[in-house]
Amino acid sequence: MKISKLTTAVLTASVISIAAISSGCSQPEPIEQNAPKYGLVTADDANEDVGTYVLPQDTSILDEPNADEIFYGKRLLNETKRLLPEHVGAQMNCNSCHISQGKIPLGDPYINSYNFYPRVMPRAGKEVDLTKRINGCFQRSMNGKPLKPESPEMLAMLAYMKWLSQNTPKEQKVDIQNAGKVDESLVGNPVRGEKIYQVQCATCHGDNGEGMKDSRGDIVFPPLWGDESFNIGAGLARTYKAAAFVKYNMPMGIQTKGLWGHGNVLSDQDAIDVAEFFTHQPRPDFAGKVNDWPNGNKPKDARY
Ligand code: HEC
Ligand code: HEC
Repeated sequence: MKISKLTTAVLTASVISIAAISSGCSQPEPIEQNAPKYGLVTADDANEDVGTYVLPQDTSILDEPNADEIFYGKRLLNETKRLLPEHVGAQMNCNSCHISQGKIPLGDPYINSYNFYPRVMPRAGKEVDLTKRINGCFQRSMNGKPLKPESPEMLAMLAYMKWLSQNTPKEQKVDIQNAGKVDESLVGNPVRGEKIYQVQCATCHGDNGEGMKDSRGDIVFPPLWGDESFNIGAGLARTYKAAAFVKYNMPMGIQTKGLWGHGNVLSDQDAIDVAEFFTHQPRPDFAGKVNDWPNGNKPKDARY
């Protein structure tokens, strides 16, 4: 059933590179490891202002002078809880939300992150660089503690993200979206959302949102609420951000195509209902919330 398909996907995830393309273009099949070296992420040849990202194969990391550092960064994103227990409070890896080490458009990718920062973030009310952005996810999404900016772990994650951006010039506009869109005028119905949760999500994420660990205690399915989930300061604690993630990435193992066989089965209303339900279940508080949105413009789905 679904789980066994997912297990296969998990096993092959590290050796297959993804070729995904933004909507409106033709859809290539995923590329096997020995297929052409590069898979196209997105191309818009008709518009020269928009850059074409070429998503590199992991094997090409070997060509880099700092290959060890890049591989270490990739590993940290994959096995964050196991390798950095002091910094991760939740049962979460970065990959729990940034699907396939950030290589999937609409799956919270890091493809463009190296070039996208520093930038002014409304939540912080000031300029945030990539190091601070990563530490934001450590403190909120991972309910943990920040890394020292100059630590080998932080530098390794940055090296991986730099490699992933493949030297695209900083000033280049690119056609990569972090998340898909949902209709934010729709209002979530948590009662309906709970029913959707039980039918579509509980098999993997548990009857009480607790997720599932394997016999060694490693995360198989990350928790959606409770003490071991992300805290209320996380982006995913917000209804519409969570709904956009869910619509395009969940449930996994439901499609017959694509690496994870994921997403695109829920309507906007379904995704918003289920997101309204699970985001509002009990989860850790976030002390730093008092400093958020200092200049106003707090989004309507903020939890505080
Ligand atoms: C619970 C889910 C979750 C986890 C776990 C998580 N993140 Fe995130 N992260 C997000 C979401 C959602 C966003 C986008 C937020 C937004 O749209 O404002 C994001 C944004 C980012 C960005 C900015 C991307 C961009 O280009 O703007 C980076 C970099 C990042 N996360 C790194 C990490 C790292 C590194 C880890 C592990 C230490 C991590 N995240 C863990 C959910 C998560
Ligand atoms: C077949 C198993 C499966 C099903 C069914 C499933 N998920 Fe997931 N979900 C996963 C896996 C696996 C991850 C982590 C991805 C990774 O580690 O690469 C995940 C991650 C998530 C995350 C981000 C991490 C976290 O814990 O917050 C959210 C949110 C989420 N799923 C919501 C849902 C919702 C809502 C549904 C039902 C509509 C659903 N999932 C159905 C397997 C599943």
